[in-house]
Amino acid sequence: MPTPLVIDTDPGIDDALAILLALASPEVELALVTTVHGNVELPQTTDNALRVLHLAGRSDVPVAAGAAESLVHPQPERAGHVHGTAGLGGVVLPASPASVDPRPAVVAMAELLLTSPEPVTVAAVGPLTNLALLLRVFPAAAARIGRLVIMGGSAARNGNVTAAAEFNVWADAEAAQAVLTSTLPTVLVGLDVTLPTVLDEEDIARFAAGPIGAQAAAIVQQYLAHARATYGTTGVVVHDALAVAEAIAPGTVGTVRRDVVVDTGLGFGRGQTLVDRRAVSSAPTAVEVAERVDSAAAVEFLVSRLASLDCGREETRS
Ligand code: BDR
Ligand code: CA
Repeated sequence: MPTPLVIDTDPGIDDALAILLALASPEVELALVTTVHGNVELPQTTDNALRVLHLAGRSDVPVAAGAAESLVHPQPERAGHVHGTAGLGGVVLPASPASVDPRPAVVAMAELLLTSPEPVTVAAVGPLTNLALLLRVFPAAAARIGRLVIMGGSAARNGNVTAAAEFNVWADAEAAQAVLTSTLPTVLVGLDVTLPTVLDEEDIARFAAGPIGAQAAAIVQQYLAHARATYGTTGVVVHDALAVAEAIAPGTVGTVRRDVVVDTGLGFGRGQTLVDRRAVSSAPTAVEVAERVDSAAAVEFLVSRLASLDCGREETRS
């Protein structure tokens, strides 16, 4: 039986790859996509999610829109300079025939969690506003989450949006604090493991042959241009796809149970994940923090799965 999966997301280039990876993976059944503000504004992340699912021929997957803004302090700026002003690297995918689900994201999530006979995995790869709201509004549903895999934070590295903070945590620090100090069974996939996991031009060429892969490769081009200009590299870090790989295949990253809090002050450290690496924690609120990854294996997993999306199309047609 595939594990039911929810992706809570702000597409976003690496979010788009993460959704496609889930659709290419028989271990999971993508049961719901919920959207959140983040890389671009909510209406755009929602439309992008619909279009990415349509690209893969999966307009049947419901998309429910969530929070348009952070819980307390508005997110200071979006990330159009990284992801393109419309979020998908300047690529305009065909519009989906599907409409957005009429339910608010937290209601759709709660209904799925309360009715699923199997434990549901949630992969949260945007700001954590929706998850924090779920915890507060539907605690009984939240308690039924089988695994929560978050792309966010960093334990031993700098941030990527400020010296201290990683983007998803910085975008809604109060929400991240609520989620990371809850008792949800959480894996935190942060910059420590995402930054070394790089997709290069040869990797991208391996999934670019078919129509779905070609669009995925086109979307990633903006990331390549940003990486080249900002870091002088020709490879791209696909943060969210690594988190979804961990949601699909537990153990993709090596974790240690740590206490984690978020700096919610308004100073220079805002949005920093303070990971107590002095000790392994047995507290019920502790988080499995990703500290190791076999990056080559993770990239191979992602590339071969993305390439298989177009193989599947060929088989269906013949
Ligand atoms: C995270 O920030 C976003 O820009 C990416 O989509 C990813 O979720 C990386 O810090
Ligand atoms: Ca994201």
